[in-house]
Amino acid sequence: MMKGLKKWRLFSLLAVMMVFLSGCGEDYLSTLKPSGEVGKQQLNLLLLTTVIMTLVVVVVSVIYLLAFVKYRRSRVGENVIPKQVEGSHTLEVIWTVIPIILLLIIAVPVVTTTYKFADVAAMDEVDEEGNKTALTINVTAKLYWWEFEYPNQGIVTAQELVVPTGEKVYFNLKAADVKHSFWIPAVGGKMDTNVENLNKFYLVFDKESKDLKDGVFYGKCAELCGPSHALMDFKVKTLSPDAFDAWVDAMKATEGQTADKASTDLGEATFANSCLGCHAISGSGAGGTPGPNLTTFGDRNRVAGFLEHNEESLKAWIKNPEEFKPGNLMMNAEGTAPIYGNLSDEEIEALATYIMGLSVEK
Ligand code: CUA
Repeated sequence: MMKGLKKWRLFSLLAVMMVFLSGCGEDYLSTLKPSGEVGKQQLNLLLLTTVIMTLVVVVVSVIYLLAFVKYRRSRVGENVIPKQVEGSHTLEVIWTVIPIILLLIIAVPVVTTTYKFADVAAMDEVDEEGNKTALTINVTAKLYWWEFEYPNQGIVTAQELVVPTGEKVYFNLKAADVKHSFWIPAVGGKMDTNVENLNKFYLVFDKESKDLKDGVFYGKCAELCGPSHALMDFKVKTLSPDAFDAWVDAMKATEGQTADKASTDLGEATFANSCLGCHAISGSGAGGTPGPNLTTFGDRNRVAGFLEHNEESLKAWIKNPEEFKPGNLMMNAEGTAPIYGNLSDEEIEALATYIMGLSVEK
């Protein structure tokens, strides 16, 4: 009976571990399946340190168990007093030198790689015409969303980062309110976004994201920042260099795009009245709007960063954003209603259709 119970316990433990670990092998999310130079080298460091640490644990455990078994009383006899020693130069040298060697084996590659990843000198390089040559993206983390500004292209987007494959993409990272942390697990990172200083690093994206499960890599906020920290996701679309250039041109072409309060389209008129104050729908220009830029909303993968991308989710979100992302800034100060008031079902319906139609890819 007891034996059966023990087996069952072990089985449930393994089953729970399976559930936890099943997320580890996904190529859109997993640090263990990196899709870029930075992620690959970070994984190598992880493996190196894990191997060395495992080796230490195994060797120490074996010596411990050997002493345990070999010198137990029933084996050496009741009245044996072992040889009394005080200090051993040989042993002390051995157990000082071995850890020093192991630490050096870990420290040398870790420190050199860390400095290499922090090398952002190329951000300032310019061509003959004085244009910056490296692709730089200004990331601003806000409660609870992400803004991505491309200063050299003069465009801005939010929630879904679009990057080309095969080149170093440089990031200026900052936060607008509290500390967050920018992390694309399958590509590299993470790095804090702070309010008081700019952090810089680069990532390389090897693989086009269109073949992944959802067509995007997953990005995360990795610093506890408030009640909706766990929902502060973003997505990363990686395109071939040509497709990326086409996307940039399409974004630039939205210059001046806006919504008209007098429009006969109820969705557009509602947007102009209730949303345009915080959300821009032109991807041309700089960031800094109170809410996420919505120019590419129809091209995105999620509503609010994590809800299914369809009109049903969008309508539910507009109706009561607090229910889905507690602490988001779409609610009034009392938290009783959205700052745009309670819209009618008809208005919400039209608004959802209008916002879903915002696209530069279709
Ligand atoms: Cu932002 Cu956690």
